[in-house]
Order: sequence, then structure tokens, then C-alpha cells
Amino acid sequence: MDQFTIFGCFIFILRSCSGTQLEEDYLKFPPGFSIGSASSAYQVEGAWNVSGKTPSVWDWFTHKKDSTVMDQATGDIACDSYHKYKEDIAMMKDIGFRHYRFSLSWTRILPTGFPDKISQEGLQYYKDLIDEVRRQGMEPFVTIYHWDHPEFMNRLGSWTNELMVEYYAEYARIVFRELGSRVKVWATLNEPEQNCRLGFAKDVHAPGINLPYFGEYLCLHNYLKAHARAYQIYNEEFRAEQGGQVGIVHLCEHFFPQPSHDLETSRIGFECGCGWATHPIFSKEGNYPQVMRERVNGNSKLEGLPFSRLPKFSPDWIKRIRGSSDFLGINVYTAREVRAMPREKNGIWPNDFGTELIINETWPVNTAWLRVIPQALGEILRRIRDVYDNPPVYIMENGATSAKGVNDYNRIEYLHDYMKEMLLAINRDGCNVKGYTIWSFLDSFEWSEGYTDLFGLVEVDFTDPNRKRTPRLSTKWLKKIMQKGRLINIKDLGQLN
Ligand SMILES: *[C@@H]1O[C@H](CO)[C@@H](O)[C@H](O)[C@H]1NC(C)=O
Ligand SMILES: *[C@@H]1O[C@H](CO)[C@@H](O)[C@H](O)[C@H]1NC(C)=O
Repeated sequence: MDQFTIFGCFIFILRSCSGTQLEEDYLKFPPGFSIGSASSAYQVEGAWNVSGKTPSVWDWFTHKKDSTVMDQATGDIACDSYHKYKEDIAMMKDIGFRHYRFSLSWTRILPTGFPDKISQEGLQYYKDLIDEVRRQGMEPFVTIYHWDHPEFMNRLGSWTNELMVEYYAEYARIVFRELGSRVKVWATLNEPEQNCRLGFAKDVHAPGINLPYFGEYLCLHNYLKAHARAYQIYNEEFRAEQGGQVGIVHLCEHFFPQPSHDLETSRIGFECGCGWATHPIFSKEGNYPQVMRERVNGNSKLEGLPFSRLPKFSPDWIKRIRGSSDFLGINVYTAREVRAMPREKNGIWPNDFGTELIINETWPVNTAWLRVIPQALGEILRRIRDVYDNPPVYIMENGATSAKGVNDYNRIEYLHDYMKEMLLAINRDGCNVKGYTIWSFLDSFEWSEGYTDLFGLVEVDFTDPNRKRTPRLSTKWLKKIMQKGRLINIKDLGQLN
């Protein structure tokens, strides 16, 4: 062995030692970091017509004769969590989760949609649910609205009608007043951008207002105002006494530029994706991202319209929306590639933004819309850190489907790889991430996919009137993680069975 080889070995040992040590440190969850799982009212509760509850837009959408939902499935019974929540919460407690994210059904609390009539029975259900979560040592993360507004508001145009801003704000006030002493983490709204795209520019989700390049902009505009009003109400009437945090949950997914050096297209993809709803709240200047305004306004003008299809905020609204969140909640599942599309001959930007989103066919498939790209989580967290001055972030949804049965090795691998990217973003790159939430606790009604996409850590037998629950293997792995306070390598999986 010559000198150089010995020296080389020495260096190699040093580097691998420090590498391992660093890696070990990186895989620890920071002190106070909260891990939990999630659901939403329509997807799990069932009991669609009890306790005076009136139909929501999703009851209407799934009950329609020409329903486009897979297998014409409905949430009438779903997981029956309305009756079985104690069993669910006991299983979460057994895993060692620190929080449970769920949502409130508007029409279960306000059967007319308005505060003229409060259903005490509906309200009591949520008080009991919240108390049970707390009794079992977990923090309730409560989403006030997760897509299921009163059906009659649909006939008024739902989120395309600005009246929704005050309707929602009145509902939020009741919720803060009645439940706020028990809740420290609120999310006003879930994924407005996704609801606006799939429900207002397409007919895939309720309400199915299929007005592309128009409906989604109008919808999100009112959503953002509604959020800001709820935030203002909390500040003025409840914050001093209740001392909670109020945030919003956005779908923020990373777009890898194609070709990879096209950073400008990557930036535009981000601004017109995650930035559409995030920039108005979390940027210094507020309002929609500049590139988005330029391109949609420009297109509208070239189309000969007297105004832009992208609605304009007054300076007052820009101010009220800017800063209206104590944290940013993000949902992350997958990623896309983004490619620049040059202006057409007449100057029009294709797709309004001059970008095209594509699936890279080499990426592993989980379910139809979900390709597994763990690095994308790190990329989006670092982008949020850089663009919005490192705000507190809660990951409010992340997860994947598995096949029927309890051996969900692919889910463990998915969660491991995404959590690892998250921990590197936190511990190595300084991203201010406060919590991580797995979608979903139970197999649930997955919107247009009905009961065919199984996202649950816990399997639910939907053919059993009792909706029997069976924890999957991933719950054992998660229990170990919760005990150790650090990510466990998937090589240790053998010990789980
Ligand atoms: C509620 O809906 C169920 C179907 O999910 C039906 O069997 C039942 O009769 C309904 N109850 C009322 C009071 O309408
Ligand atoms: C697809 O992704 C792979 C792996 O990330 C990458 O190497 C490749 O360039 C991508 N291909 C296309 C056509 O985008």
C-alpha cells in the first residue's frame, strides 16, 4: 500500500464518518415538530342527512343522475366517522401522532348556511371530536372549509359570486366563537386553487362550472377575499382571548424546468402555480404575481376584451389580503415538468401563462395523477423559503395510494423518501417547517375517484356496514418513528412484520 492509498483511505474514513454523523443529525425531527394525519368532513364523516344537516354541494354533485364520480360513489356513509371517530382517534393515539387535521361541514353547523340557525347537535359533534382529540394528547388542526359549502349557494354561482366572501366570513365567525377556545391551529380554506381549477374551469369536481380561463380566476379571487375576511375577524374578535394561529392550505407542487437550465420558465411555472394564491398573501408587495398579471391581462387585451379575465384587486383588498396568515399550509404529492411555450403569431400566450405542464413518463406511477418524485418536496420547500422570506410552513397533506390489503410497502417507501427530503430541507437548508401531515388516516371518498384511490394508513372495508378498520403496516413503521423522534431507514422494515 503506498502513501497515497493510505492517505486516500484516511480521507475516505473521515468523510464517510462525518457524512454518516451528518446524515444521522439530518434525520432527526426538530424539537416541537408535529406529525399527524388528515381527513376532511365530506370524505369520511358520512351521516349526510342526520342532525339537521342540509345537503352540501358535494351531496348534490354525487347524487346527480349523471354523476361523473367513479362508480357513482357518494359520501352518504363514507367511513362513518361521524359515529366512529373515537375508534379513529384511539388508533392515532396508538401510533403516537401529535395532531389530527380534519374539517368542519358547513351545513352540519349551519343548516340554512347562515347564522340565523345553529344546529346544536352538529356543533356538539365537533365539540366532542375536538375534545376527544385533545383528551388523547393530540392537537386538533381544524380546516374550516374543505370544498363542501351549502348546495343552495351553488345556484348563486358559488365561488364565482362575491357574496360568498361574506357568507363564508359569517360562517367562520360562528366557528371561531363556538369552537375557538378548544382550537390552536386553524386553516381557513383547503386548496382553493385546485378547487377552482377542477370545479370552475373543469367539471371534474363540484360544482362543475366548466368555464376555463375565466371561472378559475373569478373563483380564486373570491376565495382569497373570504380568507382575508376570516383572518381579520379572528384578529379583531378572537385572537386576544383564544391565541391560536390562522393559516391557509395551498396545493404547492414543484415544476422541474425542461430543459433543466431554463430557470426563467421554472420561475414562471412557480409564480402561476403555487404563487397564484400564495403571492397575494405571503409576498412583500401582495397581489397576484406580476408575470401572471402581465400575461393574462395581455391575452385578454389581444382577445379584444374590455377588461382582463384575471380580476383586479383594489389597493384596499391587496392590503387586506397581504400578510393575512400566521403560517402557510401546503399539500404536496407529485410534480410536473414545465416547458416554455412561445407567444403565438398574434402575440397570445398559450395557456395564458406561456407554459406547458408535462408528466415525465420515466417517473414512477402511484396512481393516475400521482408520480413519485420525492426531490420535488425539497425543491418546493426551498423555493418557498427563498421567495417568501422563509415563512412558517405546515405540510398539511402528503401521501400515496396502496393496493387493497395491509402490506403497504410502497407507502412506507414513499413516506420515507418524502420525509427525508423534508428533513434535509429543514435541518440542512434551514426551511422553517413546523409540521408534517399524512394524507390520509383512513381510506376515504377521494372525490372524482370515489373509493378507488386508497390513501389510508388504515384500511376501511366499505362493503362492511360497520366499516371495519384495519391498520396497515405503515402504522407500525410510523409508531417506531414517533418513538425514536427520527426517520428510520426502510432497510429496517424486516422487523415490522
Ligand atoms: C338518510 O340517508 C340514508 C341513505 O344514506 C337513507 O337510508 C335514510 O332514509 C335517510 N334519512 C332521512 C331521515 O332522510
Ligand atoms: C425525465 O426525468 C429524468 C429523471 O429525472 C431525466 O433524466 C430526463 O431528462 C427527463 N426526461 C424528459 C424528457 O423530460
